[in-house]
Amino acid sequence: GASPEDLKMEIEGVAKKAAMEAGRLIVAASGKAQNVETKGVRSDLVTEVDKACEDLIKQRVQESFPDHSILGEETSTSEELERLDATLADSDWTWIVDPIDGTLNFVGGLPLSVVSIGVAKANRVEVGVVFNPYSGELFTARRGEGAFLNGERISVLPPETELEDGAVSVGFPSKRPVRERMLRGVSAVAPHARTVRALGTAALHMSYVAAGKLACFFELNLKPWDVAAAWLIVEEAGGRVTDMAGKPMRLRAGPILASCGGQLHERVLSLLREAECTGEESDLR
Ligand code: IPD
Ligand code: CA
Ligand code: CA
Ligand code: CA
Repeated sequence: GASPEDLKMEIEGVAKKAAMEAGRLIVAASGKAQNVETKGVRSDLVTEVDKACEDLIKQRVQESFPDHSILGEETSTSEELERLDATLADSDWTWIVDPIDGTLNFVGGLPLSVVSIGVAKANRVEVGVVFNPYSGELFTARRGEGAFLNGERISVLPPETELEDGAVSVGFPSKRPVRERMLRGVSAVAPHARTVRALGTAALHMSYVAAGKLACFFELNLKPWDVAAAWLIVEEAGGRVTDMAGKPMRLRAGPILASCGGQLHERVLSLLREAECTGEESDLR
């Protein structure tokens, strides 16, 4: 039979192809989406292209790996989400899919969205693929084998990087009380940073942290599909990912700080703590 390494390579190949196929749909329809629906909060949108990309990726997974589970943003049920907390067997593979990370950019015609596919074995991410279809940037990682951008090895900024020399990136959650808490964190960190960016896609921010283009990224209350792939990519690039209180990151996600590690990570954590921007249980509801 195939070795575990061969299986991961095969998975990565299917994930890459599916992400690139979905990417073509995204670029073709950018700024032209017809059916735009809200998902509860007015700033939380979904289009027919999000759904079409998710369907396409699911189909590709089912063709190649009929026994794997799929958790996609636009079709997952709460029971499927709960499986992320369960103790699973080594034969249990789950594809965690964000068909368009950056839907608001996509709807507005800003050319910044990615397809994110993280593949977990027994709830530990083993393969991560993030594809930016506008630029052709393809970020990939397999556990234990490093992180790559278009096949070239990438690494985070040196861990001794000071906040004053690093670009910080942030995202703004859709729910108003959470966004207000997030703004307190941004106010606390921004004065010390070289600059601040908010590109509208968590997976791309994290991939840029992995590639040393950004020093760190933080946001409250992310979802598994926002971060599964890029979490592995950051770690395989030598970076650090925790929640915003410094505790280990979980696949269920929530508040995330991804960085080049070292003192910069600790410094941001302490600024966030002072600003009381570490995440609250009530935010998650
Ligand atoms: C969103 C993006 C955005 C972040 C939001 C996410 P979506 O994902 O990653 O940058 O600020 O919190 O929900 O909805 O575009 O897939
Ligand atoms: Ca969404
Ligand atoms: Ca997302
Ligand atoms: Ca999405």
